[in-house]
Amino acid sequence: MSTTPQDLHVDARPARALTAKEIMARKGGTPIVCLTAYVTPMAARLDKHCDLLLVGDSVGMVLYGMESTLSVTIEDMIRHGRAVTRGAKRAMVVVDMPFGTYEESKEQAFRNAARILSETGAAAVKLEGGVEMAETVRFLVNRGIPVLGHVGLMPQAVHTNGGYGARGRTVDEWKPIIDDGKAIAEAGAFAVVLEGVAEPLARKITDEVPVPVIGIGASNACDGQILVTEDMMGLFAINPKFVKRFAEIGNAIEGAIEAYAGEVRNRTFPGEEHTYKMRGANA
Ligand code: KIV
Repeated sequence: MSTTPQDLHVDARPARALTAKEIMARKGGTPIVCLTAYVTPMAARLDKHCDLLLVGDSVGMVLYGMESTLSVTIEDMIRHGRAVTRGAKRAMVVVDMPFGTYEESKEQAFRNAARILSETGAAAVKLEGGVEMAETVRFLVNRGIPVLGHVGLMPQAVHTNGGYGARGRTVDEWKPIIDDGKAIAEAGAFAVVLEGVAEPLARKITDEVPVPVIGIGASNACDGQILVTEDMMGLFAINPKFVKRFAEIGNAIEGAIEAYAGEVRNRTFPGEEHTYKMRGANA
């Protein structure tokens, strides 16, 4: 293990993490680099390279083997949010509001968003929804809670939207998605995640929405990109079209475990160098 506590910046929340204002100012500029993070050592590694780390509710599927994000709780998000803020120094940390913690009323959303920020040290929350959530976004922002929107394919609406297929692949589907992006930006979100839409629609939304549009499965027309870290690192066998595998850690893990199992079985591990000797006269 080469990671040291210094590498992890444990308990040293930075004075200079990027702010919502700074991310917002990147509209149309150098693309904003974002990835998901759920745990401290990974957050520390990502922090050097990313502008924004999202503690996504995808944690439920990625770390806990859930079928969807719908069973993730606010306690899950707080536990993982706290872990990520311990590892991040420069990147802005944003925590997803899980399903059922913000849709009922703007007051419910404020209560839970305030709890997430105060208990994790994160700088903002993300919530899914367009026109119907605009009033809630405005309520949060006016009360000191920066909000990252999420429109297009919204995984928390998997049951009403009928799956995870890409949106906006015919022009007649475009208007509500464009309206969603604009409504969330007008309500004060500092940026909007745009998930799973056809390239011309992503380009139009990025052109017309005045805050940064961070794409996932939404082409390179956006102001920034986000992926689930474990997806882009090749942990899983299933690979959505929009994910490029920048590494094959699934294979690396299998290879390491196979080597370990072999060495345990043939007693070549632990070797001399991993074995404690007696001290002094007994050596
Ligand atoms: O939960 C998540 O990880 C997300 C990203 C994929 C945008 O919402």
